[in-house]
Order: sequence, then structure tokens, then C-alpha cells
Amino acid sequence: HFEHRCGDDIGQFALQRVLNRPCFFRVGNGGYDIFALHDLVNRHADGLGRHVVKGCKPAFAHLLISAGFIQIHDDVGVSGFKIRGRIVKGDVSVHANSDDTQIHGGFTDFHSFSPPCHFISKNHKQIPSAPVVPENDPSVLFNTAGMMPLIPYLMGQTHPYGTRLCDYQKCIRTNDLDVIGNTTHHTFFEMLGNWSLGDYFKEESIEWSFEFLTKHLNIPVERLAVTVFAGNDLIPFDEESFNKWKSLGIKEERIARTIEDNFWIAGETGPCGPDTEIFYFRSNEEIPEKFDPEDERWVEIWNNVFMGYHKDANGIVTELPKKNVDTGMGVERTVALLEGVKDNYESSIWKDVIDLISEIAGIPYEENKTSMRIIADHIRTAVFISADRAGIKPSNTDQGYILRRLIRRAIRHAKKLEIDINSNWEEKIAIAIMDKYKKYYSEIETNQNIALEV
Ligand code: SER
Repeated sequence: HFEHRCGDDIGQFALQRVLNRPCFFRVGNGGYDIFALHDLVNRHADGLGRHVVKGCKPAFAHLLISAGFIQIHDDVGVSGFKIRGRIVKGDVSVHANSDDTQIHGGFTDFHSFSPPCHFISKNHKQIPSAPVVPENDPSVLFNTAGMMPLIPYLMGQTHPYGTRLCDYQKCIRTNDLDVIGNTTHHTFFEMLGNWSLGDYFKEESIEWSFEFLTKHLNIPVERLAVTVFAGNDLIPFDEESFNKWKSLGIKEERIARTIEDNFWIAGETGPCGPDTEIFYFRSNEEIPEKFDPEDERWVEIWNNVFMGYHKDANGIVTELPKKNVDTGMGVERTVALLEGVKDNYESSIWKDVIDLISEIAGIPYEENKTSMRIIADHIRTAVFISADRAGIKPSNTDQGYILRRLIRRAIRHAKKLEIDINSNWEEKIAIAIMDKYKKYYSEIETNQNIALEV
């Protein structure tokens, strides 16, 4: 029984031929890998009696690896989305390489397959993203973290999908618009999360994160470091997490203990708890033996919060009846890191949008980075706000005010680049962004015209 998230009878047929046994697919998702498999079985023979496929989706290849059907060529190995391997059953050779695939390969793979597959294999149910405007919480304008729509369940309510969940949550943070334009911050971003609602706790959470990073994304352990909660008057040092990381092979010098940075709460009150953060060494320089969280070459990629507490309006912290896990991984940052770029806007999430802006402006990205990043970022956020279920329009208050500010700032930077703002420049950029996201978020397709009007 081999499960893969595709619904396509060509793929089913193809996989059946390769594996020589019945295959089951679940969840319709279309997918290039299906066509790759079709090719694999029917088209490309390399003259040695083997079938060869290029450009198979790497995440799919990962699946084949874990099922034992692909062996990695020693000389190439796996790094991020780049994989070259040989299918060891069925006399077939597979080259899954992001360079061979579409420009969005990395993002598409990451988005549709990798993490949900990992957590689904650990009995998690994938839930859809909640809207960007919170439906039951008037105290905040937007969802700023993956856990926000889940607060009632972290507090003890029963979730209809059970106690193990995973998702991509659309998040918007606009508290610090001035930093937008640098390489790593975005007003809109997707947060990948997995949750335990009173189910598993530190042990499994850390183990699965480690497994996902080192086995699925093939990040070498030497590039990883973590922080754990050092302890305060109320909550002790998180020895359990510390020991777990050590048992997985993280050296003691790579486990830093902090207090403020290792306690997580969304805002002032609500479910909260100590966390353990995972860092990746992004530089090509030699990796220092000792991990210093202040050293900017280490970038935080994942945050596992052990939500066993609640903080009330008087600042009183009490234990929750059930211990939960809330993890959050920023998709933009992780994809950039896996693709080996230091500027998020050069990853497959943004590159085509940036190229389009550069084409519209008739000037290169290299000399106009900040304005182009701001335009790309703000139009994407404006698309997600205006296509959201809440029907936000530019106005003088609340979410509408943020939307208006984003659009104005985008226009200001378009003028700076001497784009003809009476042309349909913003429509072209918005459409490029929508085309990229509508397969994951149906509201982008349904509300396309509303967003374009805005
Ligand atoms: N809530 C935590 C964060 O936003 C983990 O998901 O980082």
C-alpha cells in the first residue's frame, strides 16, 4: 500500500507499472510528478534498457526513497531539493533535480508535499488555513502566527480533526513595516505548523522535527543548533528537551540556554510555554564549534513551543489541563535556505515576481532591490487581504487602513522606479502572484476579480 497525494489515473497506472503492484492515491492534487512517472514508464529509455526520468518532483523522489525504491548516487547525494538517485526496483533511473524542474519547483514541492507528508505519516490530519482576518477574535487585526486560529483548542476545546494537526497558515505581521525591504522579512508569510492537542509532547515533537530536517530535507546535523529554556522562578530549566537534543546527536556546545527568547506567547495573554528553537548555519564560512544565538549567520528555522501554561490579564501564569505542542516554520525562509540563497527574494517563491517587476520597470533588480522587494511584498499581502473571506476594502480604519497603507507604499516605490503608474503594472504583478497561490488557496481564485478591483 503506497500512498501519495495525487489523484490521476495516468499516475496511478504509471506507478503500478513501476512498482508492479496495485497503488492507491489519495487527495486530488494534480502534479508534475505524475507526468514524470508517465514518462518514466513510457517514454525515455536510455539505451541500456533502463527508463530515465528527469525533473521528477524532488519531494516525490523523497517519498520513493523512504519507501526504499530509490538509492542515492553516492557522488551526488541529496542537498535541499537537489536529488539524484537510482530507482533500485524496476530497473529505472530517476533524476530529481530542482534545476531541471519548473522555476517554482522548490516552493511547489515544499508547499504541496514535503511537510504534510512527513506529519501525515505521523498520524497528523492536515487542516486548511484559517482566513487572514481572525473570525472569532476582534482583539487582533490579522492572524500573526499559525497557532492563533487554534487558541480555543489549545485551551482545551475538542478539535473536530483530532489531537494531531498540521497545516500552512496564512499570517500577516504589519507592526514593523519599516524593516520590509530587507532580505528576510515579509508582511505576509506562510507558517507551517504541527500541533499536539494534549497528545504527544517534547520527546516526539523534537524527534520528528529532527527527522524532518535531517532525513527529509537532508540538512547535515553539523549545520544545526538549538536553544532551550534556561528556567526562571516559575518554570524550571527544560532538561527534557536538552537531553532529547543531545540523544539525537546535537553536541552540548550547540545547545544554548536562554530565558526570554525561549518563552513564547502570542501577545500579552493566552496559552504559552517554554520553547526550543532550531537554527541553521547559513554562511559558507567555517561552522563555529560553539553556537551563539546572537551570531546572525545562524538563522532560526523552526520553533517548537511546549504550551503547558496560560497567562491571564493579571500576568498570572497557571498550568493548562493538557500539555500541547505548537510548532512554526516560516516557509519563505526555509525555501530560501534550501535553495541556497541568502536573499529570500531570490528564491523560487519570489524570483519570477521580482523578474516581472524588473521587466515592467525596465531596470535590473541588483541596483533597485529595496523598492522591488517592497512592491513584491506589499502587492502579495494586498492580494491576500483583499481576497480574504472578510471582504476588506481600503479604508481609514483597522484592516482596511493597513491595506490602504500597503497599496500606497507600493505605489510610492513604483514611482521611485519610474514605473508608469497609470499603466496596469500592479495588475500584472497581482496576477503573477495569484497564479502562484491559487492552487493552494481557493479564495485567491474565487475572489480574483475582487482583489484586482482593489
Ligand atoms: N507560535 C510559535 C511561533 O509563531 C510556533 O508556531 O513561532
